[in-house]
Amino acid sequence: MALIVRRALEKDIAVLTDLSRKTFEEAFGDQNDPENMRTYLDASFSMAQITHELSDPETTYLLAYHQEALVGYAKIQGGPSPDCILDEKAIQLSRVYIISQHMGKGFGSQLIQACIDESLQQRYTSIWLGVWEINVNAQRLYERLGFVRAGTKTFILGTDVQQDIVYTRSV
Ligand SMILES: CC(C)(COP(=O)(O)OP(=O)(O)OC[C@H]1O[C@@H](n2cnc3c(N)ncnc32)[C@H](O)[C@@H]1OP(=O)(O)O)[C@@H](O)C(=O)NCCC(=O)NCCS
Repeated sequence: MALIVRRALEKDIAVLTDLSRKTFEEAFGDQNDPENMRTYLDASFSMAQITHELSDPETTYLLAYHQEALVGYAKIQGGPSPDCILDEKAIQLSRVYIISQHMGKGFGSQLIQACIDESLQQRYTSIWLGVWEINVNAQRLYERLGFVRAGTKTFILGTDVQQDIVYTRSV
């Protein structure tokens, strides 16, 4: 099924804020303490935070549409990477989310490919990501798309210190 992917612009801030909150809650709400979720959602998915990130030249948000309906988004971000990432021209696939009712239709794979294409266009040479150690479905998908394990890193959700597996691949 064809997916249209485009960069998010300032006019998309409200829609992007709603979508990013909704998809994070859908994906991880059941597995986390509600207070920790609230703290993380309020800090990471506020209009102010998304506005700030969209004005950062190192951050790119991509919006994914199928038949004119918004079905997901991704965020890629330059800047610091964990010690296990040795490439100095590596960019992070910081978020990739498909609305739950549209999962399993190939959209996530196409959106990740769009992130790889965008990274190459921005002259990065590899792309890395951290995925929660219990998120085995996403890990299987990344491995199918050519990502390999590079190490681990911590991820803080409220007061919960979680372990992420770090994956990387060249672009
Ligand atoms: C991971 C995600 C972006 C993949 O998008 P998608 O459109 O469902 O993926 P595709 O249809 O291209 O590929 C399906 C694969 O996605 C993975 N997947 C992860 N969560 C899934 C779900 N809830 N339903 C179906 N597939 C899922 C599976 O590995 C599946 O492969 P399989 O056929 O081997 O089981 C999407 O499922 C999602 O948003 N998940 C919740 C958020 C998340 O985990 N994001 C990544 C954080 S690191």
